[in-house]
Amino acid sequence: MIRSIVRGNGAALPRRIMKNADFEGMVETSDEWIVQRTGIRQRHVAADDETTASLGEAAGRAALDSAGLTPADIDLIVLATSTPNNTFPATAVDIQNRLGMHHGFAFDMQAVCSGFVYAVATADLYIRGGLAKRVLVIGSETFSRILDWSDRSTCVLFGDGAGAVVLEAAQGTGGIADRGVLAASLRSDGVHKEKLFVDGGPSTTGTVGHLKMEGREVFKHAVGMITDVIEATFAQAGITAQDLDWFVPHQANKRIIDASAKKLGIAEQKVVVTVDLHGNTSAASVPLALSVAVADGRIKKGDLVLLEAMGGGFTWGAVLLRW
Ligand code: ACO
Repeated sequence: MIRSIVRGNGAALPRRIMKNADFEGMVETSDEWIVQRTGIRQRHVAADDETTASLGEAAGRAALDSAGLTPADIDLIVLATSTPNNTFPATAVDIQNRLGMHHGFAFDMQAVCSGFVYAVATADLYIRGGLAKRVLVIGSETFSRILDWSDRSTCVLFGDGAGAVVLEAAQGTGGIADRGVLAASLRSDGVHKEKLFVDGGPSTTGTVGHLKMEGREVFKHAVGMITDVIEATFAQAGITAQDLDWFVPHQANKRIIDASAKKLGIAEQKVVVTVDLHGNTSAASVPLALSVAVADGRIKKGDLVLLEAMGGGFTWGAVLLRW
């Protein structure tokens, strides 16, 4: 059978780093509160010349370089983002053009923080369905542009950045020892749409709006939803938490990551944590975490890796793959 293997990966971060202490003159908060409640120590914030498209392009180029490929080798770009450069066209086609790619096709995927997990699962289906042989999957966000910088309960939590992987069709046996995407499970439930949303849009206010979140409500649902979807993915693949080499969760809050890993019985040393460095970068958080763990030599070819995310909607999902 056809498998979608990871051929390369990359990342891009805005130049400017904003430390927790930098908020102290802006809103009533402290480094101690932010670290204790979230694990976040710093985040990158985009300058005017850094956009979802430019960061996504840079991450895409880095992934292509690591794969030893050029844009000419790619058939499809799937961009996961909730902060597109424009309402339309899709920022994916902007990135396609920036890469000098005038063949194939490109589209955006909007599942907020679960966007990258949705995009990998979607790209896998395009590859296995025969519509594409190589897909550039990018998560890129500039959440700094939709934050209310006077709201201390949200502005300290998010950051900007981009990460990408190149998925490629390869022949597999259909077994769990194959490289590539092995199982995926996606969920959403719009009953929760007002717990985490942006209060503007083309069809309602005609404005972009700002992020609103009932943090405690999100927290309350997060661990149960994450563990449910991961257990469904384990069952699909016929594995247990003990079989995993690496758990790469969405990086929103260290307490949610710790509680999910504990409930699933995933050992602490197998959990990749980058929320301290990047904050919550929404759809970019999982590929950014991947880029750190691949660059420092933790994630290696042949490792069994579990990706997971949960976000606005709510949306949630997991992908199991062998690197
Ligand atoms: N600094 C200092 N105090 C603050 C801050 C801040 N930055 N923000 C809120 N507080 C205050 C609140 O006003 C509140 O004060 P009060 O008791 O006087 O009313 C107090 O701290 C406690 O507030 P809580 O909201 O109960 O704090 P909690 O422990 O729940 O932590 C947090 C808040 C960090 C937001 C947590 O609820 C959380 O992480 N939730 C999940 C968020 C999340 O994961 N979001 C991403 C989802 S992914 C996506 O799709 C974007």
